Amino acid sequence: KKLFGVIGDPIAHSMSPAMHNDLFDLYGIDAVYLPFHVSKGNLEKAVKGLKALGVSGFNVTIPHKTDIISLLDKVDPLARAIGAVNTVKNENGLLVGYNTDGPGFVKGLEYMAADLGSRSALIIGAGGASRGIYFSMAQAGIERIDLYNRTPEKAEELVNSCPFKVESNVIGREAAEKSLAEYQLIIQTTSIGMVPDTESLPLSPENITRNTIVSDIIYNPLQTKFLKEAARMGAAVQNGVGMFVFQGALAFEIWTGIFPDVNRMEMNVLRNLG
Ligand code: ATR
Repeated sequence: KKLFGVIGDPIAHSMSPAMHNDLFDLYGIDAVYLPFHVSKGNLEKAVKGLKALGVSGFNVTIPHKTDIISLLDKVDPLARAIGAVNTVKNENGLLVGYNTDGPGFVKGLEYMAADLGSRSALIIGAGGASRGIYFSMAQAGIERIDLYNRTPEKAEELVNSCPFKVESNVIGREAAEKSLAEYQLIIQTTSIGMVPDTESLPLSPENITRNTIVSDIIYNPLQTKFLKEAARMGAAVQNGVGMFVFQGALAFEIWTGIFPDVNRMEMNVLRNLG
């Protein structure tokens, strides 16, 4: 039996084991995917242990996505640029790191919006999640990505460290609020809408129009206040379930060569979220 898993802290509520074990069943793969609780201080030992056990692959979640990089044998260039690894594959005894969070977000978006090409986007937030999404969208060839963050210096740093060419401005809150109608895509990546703090907004959504796709990477709650407001303005909205499902689908493809049934994965996740 092949061994897969996810390491993180906390890990008890991870939806990845149910999602991947269901796929192993579906495709008749003799494998098991387990959650491993690994605290910050135990990361190095855990990675060595998994390697010694001959693990086939594993996911990496909070708080290890950056720290794991120095413990791997090889890291894919996009993951290295983003500075975060969420998927590891054992390739003939060598642990190789990938990032499927950013590319998963783009793939989920492409499912909805078909073509990113000549679009312009506004990303709200400049943390780890924003970085993965920004770099992946730039790599995918989107025309323009503007960035608004409460702390503008962090947005500047993110834009300046992107290895892919894209038109981009760091804008302030007032400018962002005024120009919301000019973007085809608005992506909310801050942690603001997460439980239990569901009432605050990263900026006023008043000027969002029905021509915009608004995406929030949060999936618990399924609809943040920001997403609800955007829907009220008539925008097409997408929550974070898509990004979660597609990062998992791309990880599964890296491990098995099979791009799995994403609709089934989504149903599995929604069941889990109750
Ligand atoms: P993640 O890896 O999930 O992106 P992170 O790296 O901690 O998490 O980044 C959190 C993001 O949410 C940042 O953009 C942060 O803004 P700052 O850079 O100004 O800190 C944003 N954020 C979190 N709480 C916020 C709040 N109450 N108001 C505005 N922005 C907030």
